[in-house]
Amino acid sequence: MRHLLKLGDLTTEEITDILNLADQLKYEQKNGASRPLLKGKTLGLIFQKASTRTRVSFEVGMVQLGGYPLFLSASDLQIGRGEPVQDTARVLSRYLNGIMIRTFAQREVEDLAAYGSIPIINGLTDYAHPCQVLADLMTIREYKSTLRGLKFCYIGDGNNVANSLAVGCVKMGLDVHMACPKDFRPDADIVKWASAQDNFTLTTDVMAAAEGADVLYTDVWASMGQEGEAAGRKVAFKGYQVNKAVMKAAKPDAIVQHCLPAHRGEEITDDVFEAHATELFDEAENRMHAQKAVLVKLMG
Ligand code: CP
Ligand code: NVA
Repeated sequence: MRHLLKLGDLTTEEITDILNLADQLKYEQKNGASRPLLKGKTLGLIFQKASTRTRVSFEVGMVQLGGYPLFLSASDLQIGRGEPVQDTARVLSRYLNGIMIRTFAQREVEDLAAYGSIPIINGLTDYAHPCQVLADLMTIREYKSTLRGLKFCYIGDGNNVANSLAVGCVKMGLDVHMACPKDFRPDADIVKWASAQDNFTLTTDVMAAAEGADVLYTDVWASMGQEGEAAGRKVAFKGYQVNKAVMKAAKPDAIVQHCLPAHRGEEITDDVFEAHATELFDEAENRMHAQKAVLVKLMG
């Protein structure tokens, strides 16, 4: 593994290795025994979109590993004034040991990897959010002790997070059910690949997807960059909500996951959110542990 651009590039074994290392690094950190596995290494963090979890978890994770993170706001870089990503990749490769980038087009992340000579990590594009889903798989495994055979239900927009969930959860053997409105399905290539596996179902029926689920997952109706569509999406996504009725259809011990930030009253109700806050914030915490594992694998 040379980069983390999307989960489709990883084998089931590679994902399992990352999750195992993440568990170990979490255990070490909780016991005050973090090892400086990236001593002296530098990671650039390029952000073209806002972030709370990704930025802070990568920065703190790097420090815990003995490395040095550099926050690089795209509006302050020459990239924001039109310097091509191909040139930025070659320049930054001369200074840094790795780059995490959050941007719009997946193509930009792929170009960074193609032109640079250091590991590139996708910190969210319009197409994928692999770091998020590694943390989600880690959290689900923590709560359920296994992944294979669990019924995983996603309700809502077939966006970047849904794309990565479809790939990651199918690869790890969960029984994946996604309920998305007809016009808001995951990307066509993802649906094509996942539908060819025997553990993926795409539906518009929220209750059918939730029936007997072990895990319920949702994400915002309007992602970053779609603010202008928010009003129309509120109409299109009506009913695509994790609420009491959906929880009742799921298993009594079902856990709730959300990449966050959440819009209470839209994709999830306040009562369900608060009843499952422990799982949701364990999931947010696990971003750091899972990403530390990725950093060690790529830069260690
Ligand atoms: N889930 C996630 O990536 O959160 P941020 O946008 O806060 O980084
Ligand atoms: N789908 C959301 C995820 C945020 C972490 C977005 O792209 O805004």
